[in-house]
Amino acid sequence: MSAAAGFGKVAVLMGGRSAEREVSLMSGKGVLRALQSKGVDAHAFDPAERDLGDLRREGFARCFVALHGRGGEDGTLQGALEMLGVPYTGSGVMGSAIGMDKWRTKMIWLAGGLPTPRYRILSADDDWSEVARDLGLPLIVKPANEGSTLGLTKVAAVAQLPAAYDLAANSYHDLALAEQFIDGAEYTASVLGDQVLPLIRIEAPQGNYDYQSKYFGDDTKYICPCGLDAQKEASLKVLSLKAFRLVGCAGWGRIDLMLDAQGNPWLLEVNTSPGMTGHSLVPMAARAVGILYEDLCVKILEGAHVG
Ligand SMILES: Nc1ncnc2c1ncn2[C@@H]1O[C@H](COP(=O)(O)OP(=O)(O)O)[C@@H](O)[C@H]1O
Ligand SMILES: [Mg+2]
Repeated sequence: MSAAAGFGKVAVLMGGRSAEREVSLMSGKGVLRALQSKGVDAHAFDPAERDLGDLRREGFARCFVALHGRGGEDGTLQGALEMLGVPYTGSGVMGSAIGMDKWRTKMIWLAGGLPTPRYRILSADDDWSEVARDLGLPLIVKPANEGSTLGLTKVAAVAQLPAAYDLAANSYHDLALAEQFIDGAEYTASVLGDQVLPLIRIEAPQGNYDYQSKYFGDDTKYICPCGLDAQKEASLKVLSLKAFRLVGCAGWGRIDLMLDAQGNPWLLEVNTSPGMTGHSLVPMAARAVGILYEDLCVKILEGAHVG
């Protein structure tokens, strides 16, 4: 029996109901094709259209989670799969739930002595001038639990704060987080099992934090190898793996971080179910160490677990 056949019937969970449905469908299609090309008996499964109980009824032996956002990346799906007893890829219930929540992730990192930008949780009756004095300008306002730069604003003047707060808090019924602006280079560290893959440097066009351009535009540059010296990169890998584990994450995922002008690292967030299209960042980092996209999908699937 080939290794691929040993996985049994595999469901690639894709789509779902979150704001990131579109991206998830792209990830899922890529993963599905890759697994099938390796001889895995893989099938698409969209939890927005199907009852999860079908996984058991139809004899699925494991799941590849290619869902992003709420109801796929936030621990709820992971809890359902635990109850069904179907092994799944990536982080478990707690790591997924905390990772989805930027505020609680930051609290854990701070408690563990790891660096993350100073922040405040905003409320509608805040004194905006005081917030600006406290964190400095510019600052970043973002929802505490929605991915993909939905609702994120770089605020350059106090007068912009109320609108930024409304966008982050009201549009997505969320807590709004104001964060100290880190003026520096942006990186992402991909975790695969116990390994951190080469870091990727992300260069967005000046001041561009827009969802459409981040995912569908081609003006953002992704640079790997990232250009840091080996020692610096190694230390950021150690930091990223610590940050990943402290939040309770497992299997695979991505840590977004920045380096300020002095070279100090600042952890931004953890992504427990990052994009998995052929052009996504984890596949790019894997390629840099000779792991092809198809093999990466199989490696992630190998890590599927329950409990
Ligand atoms: N404190 C910050 N300082 C500077 N840039 C930031 C800060 N927070 C976020 N950004 C920028 O916004 C992007 C999205 O923020 P992030 O926290 O990673 O949320 P998400 O990727 O879930 O939308 C980052 O990749 C970075 O370019
Ligand atoms: Mg991010």
